[in-house]
Amino acid sequence: MSYKENLRPQIHFSPEKNWLNDPNGCVYHNGIYHLFYQFHPFSTQWGPMHWGHAESRDLVHWEEKDIALYPDEETGMAFSGSGVVDKGNTSGLFSDDSGLAFFYTCHREEPGKETVQHQWLAISHDGGGALEKYPGNPILHNPGVKDFRDPKVLYHNETEKWIMVLAVGEKINIYNSSNLIKWQEISCFTREMGDLSGIWECPDLFSLTDSTTGKKHWVLAFSILTKPAYPTQMYLIGSFDGCKFQAYDPGTLGIADYGYDFYAAQSWSNLPFKDDRKVWIGWASNWNYAHKTPDSAGWRGVMSLPREITIHEKDGRFILNQSITPFLAGLRPDKPFLDLLSVTDDQSYELKEAAAWEIMLEIFSKGRETSAELIFHWDCGDSLVLTVSKDHFVLDRGNCGSIFRQVPWDKIEVPIAGTEEFYFCQIILDNSIIEIFLNEGMQALTNLIFPKGKLIKLDISPAPGCRIGNIKGFPLRSIWRGK
Ligand code: FRU
Repeated sequence: MSYKENLRPQIHFSPEKNWLNDPNGCVYHNGIYHLFYQFHPFSTQWGPMHWGHAESRDLVHWEEKDIALYPDEETGMAFSGSGVVDKGNTSGLFSDDSGLAFFYTCHREEPGKETVQHQWLAISHDGGGALEKYPGNPILHNPGVKDFRDPKVLYHNETEKWIMVLAVGEKINIYNSSNLIKWQEISCFTREMGDLSGIWECPDLFSLTDSTTGKKHWVLAFSILTKPAYPTQMYLIGSFDGCKFQAYDPGTLGIADYGYDFYAAQSWSNLPFKDDRKVWIGWASNWNYAHKTPDSAGWRGVMSLPREITIHEKDGRFILNQSITPFLAGLRPDKPFLDLLSVTDDQSYELKEAAAWEIMLEIFSKGRETSAELIFHWDCGDSLVLTVSKDHFVLDRGNCGSIFRQVPWDKIEVPIAGTEEFYFCQIILDNSIIEIFLNEGMQALTNLIFPKGKLIKLDISPAPGCRIGNIKGFPLRSIWRGK
């Protein structure tokens, strides 16, 4: 085991070996955050899906555990799904008054036949170790549709019912249950917005309470993949009465991440927080090129950092705000390596060797066409260019890995929300992944990068009349202690 290969992220979770995609079964239980994931243990290519498993006590350091779910020869693969703590043993499947219950899609492919997807239940008596398939599976039969998958289960306090959201083609079906075993379809959500056609995958539904007004809102999130080179993790904010999700503004689809590499995000259930905060994590890749990313070190696939999500109202509209900051404190040194109050002309800073970097800065744009350019350089000549203009933030990774040399995967353009002339920008650069949060997490963009060599330098160029302030650069410690 090494975790030291050049492209291996040092503060993001990746499997020691082989293929990983979606996060699954995210549940907190007895002091442990469980992260299961789509896993192919025999190859760096997608294949018969298992559930891999990792555990963390702080959402920062992870320990990879044994495979939790195996595909079944007769019934099929273990596709994506979720996990809950069955408080009060509503299922009657546990000998104690609670236990862990997991829901996943059993996916069967037979040569010459249509694929079939049903929902299955698996339980754990040992706190998330071995998952035992429920003998009465499937718990939810396929009504005869091709895409019928990725169950996310939550508890709805007001109606005292379990709720399941499920991706069904271009819609999301909602079911309820009193015992996690018998499910009734209660409503269905279809899009009324835009031309984003494609198969919806990995839905999530959770509440968030606005800390300024104390009002509770509901977020329906899902991933869409077909339209090439378009953000893939979407959300809508609205109300949910235990039966129907009603978007406040069905015509406006929220974009949870403007990068190309944030997919199938899932929130943890049963979080130990007193307030209504949530934390989610996404698969940091894109089906359009997931099989082409470098795999010579024997692993392929990485998760985003866990993100705390809160809700904010801005000009009468609600947006999700995402923050990784709560999870970084323990990885930072006491003092930043870079600490500059104000830069108004071109500067170049050597970056010392570090596991990963966190760079924060404020850009005062004065409404110029281009207000600042930041360029990261690697010693073999690769570079990554971030350009901030009055209304756009552009990340150009065309010179940062051969698979990103071509259009459309080279450039990611983010329209900057609002008309402010000041942007706060937080950048996490972790070998082969860069996550950027703009304006305190109002906008996020996550992208894979595959530079050659060592990161050596950051050039900062404010346009004439513009200023970059409060630059702080922290070399972060690796989470792979002793590995
Ligand atoms: C999303 C997805 C899911 C499916 C899983 C299979 O990335 O396509 O819909 O359950 O991956 O690995």
